[in-house]
Amino acid sequence: STRAIVRGVGHYLPAHVVENAEFEATLDTSDEWIRTRSGIERRHFAAEGETTSQMAVEAAKAALEDAGLEADDLDAIVLATSTADLTFPSAATMVQAGIGMTHGFAYDVQAVCAGFIFALANANSMISSGLARRVLVIGAETFSRIMNWTDRGTCVLFGDGAGALILEASEGTGTTADRGILSVDLNSDGRHRDILYVDGGVSTGTSGHLVMQGKEVFRHAVEKLSDTAHSALAKVGLDGTDVDWLVPHQANLRIIKATAQRLHLPMEKVIVTVQDHGNTSAASIPLALSVGRHEGRIVPGNLVVTEAIGGGLAWGSVVLRW
Ligand code: ACO
Repeated sequence: STRAIVRGVGHYLPAHVVENAEFEATLDTSDEWIRTRSGIERRHFAAEGETTSQMAVEAAKAALEDAGLEADDLDAIVLATSTADLTFPSAATMVQAGIGMTHGFAYDVQAVCAGFIFALANANSMISSGLARRVLVIGAETFSRIMNWTDRGTCVLFGDGAGALILEASEGTGTTADRGILSVDLNSDGRHRDILYVDGGVSTGTSGHLVMQGKEVFRHAVEKLSDTAHSALAKVGLDGTDVDWLVPHQANLRIIKATAQRLHLPMEKVIVTVQDHGNTSAASIPLALSVGRHEGRIVPGNLVVTEAIGGGLAWGSVVLRW
């Protein structure tokens, strides 16, 4: 049967880096608090006027170069974001124009921090059903635009960036026989809206900022992330001992460690970028995949498990052999 295999990966981070200590000037916080509670040391922030679609275009170009492909070799773009440039059109169609892709189709998906998992699942379904053969899957965010800069419990945790992965149909023969997306597990539970949301939006005629009950999100995260990764692995008869790399959503190092522990995975098998990127929402997993791949840690044949949770709540996991 047709499987979606990884053809290339790339990322983009805005140039401006902000160290934890810089928040000490305006907030009652410290480098020490941020580091010990979250694992974050620094994050990148988009320049004034720099948008989600612009960052996504740069990540897309890097992934195309990695894959040795041209824009018109793609059939579709699926872009995960909660911080699109405009209410419409989609950021994905802006990327389509930005990379010079003149056919096919492009659209956004929105599942907040789990967005890249939902986008991957979507692309995988399109490839296995024959609707598309090559899909560019992007996670891109400018969460700096929705921060409440007076709320020390949230504004120190997030960053901006973009990552992109190209999936390609494979008939599962020869060297690619066991590669590709093997399993997907998706979940959401709208009853938890109030623990993580933006208090404004288009149909309410307001603009808003991110609001989070951090402790509550933390409590849900560890349990739901290990459960979803476990489910995705179990669907294909695998467990933690089969995993080469856990590539988690990068929100908090303590969540990442607790999740790895519940999957019986040592931290040597976990790609961690939260110290340098902060929480970049839907961009965090493709950023971590790109860093892990380009540092030569993730190599073809590796079993990779990704997982994420975010506002909704929405959460899920994708298991793939690189
Ligand atoms: N500097 C100093 N003190 C702070 C700061 C700060 N930046 N932020 C909060 N505090 C204080 C709090 O006010 C509190 O003080 P109090 O005890 O006097 O009330 C104290 O530190 C402890 O706060 P807690 O909330 O108990 O700290 P906790 O250890 O839970 O860490 C954190 C907070 C980092 C937010 C953690 O709960 C967390 O990471 N939660 C999950 C976030 C997450 O995973 N989000 C993912 C989804 S994101 C998305 O979908 C968009």
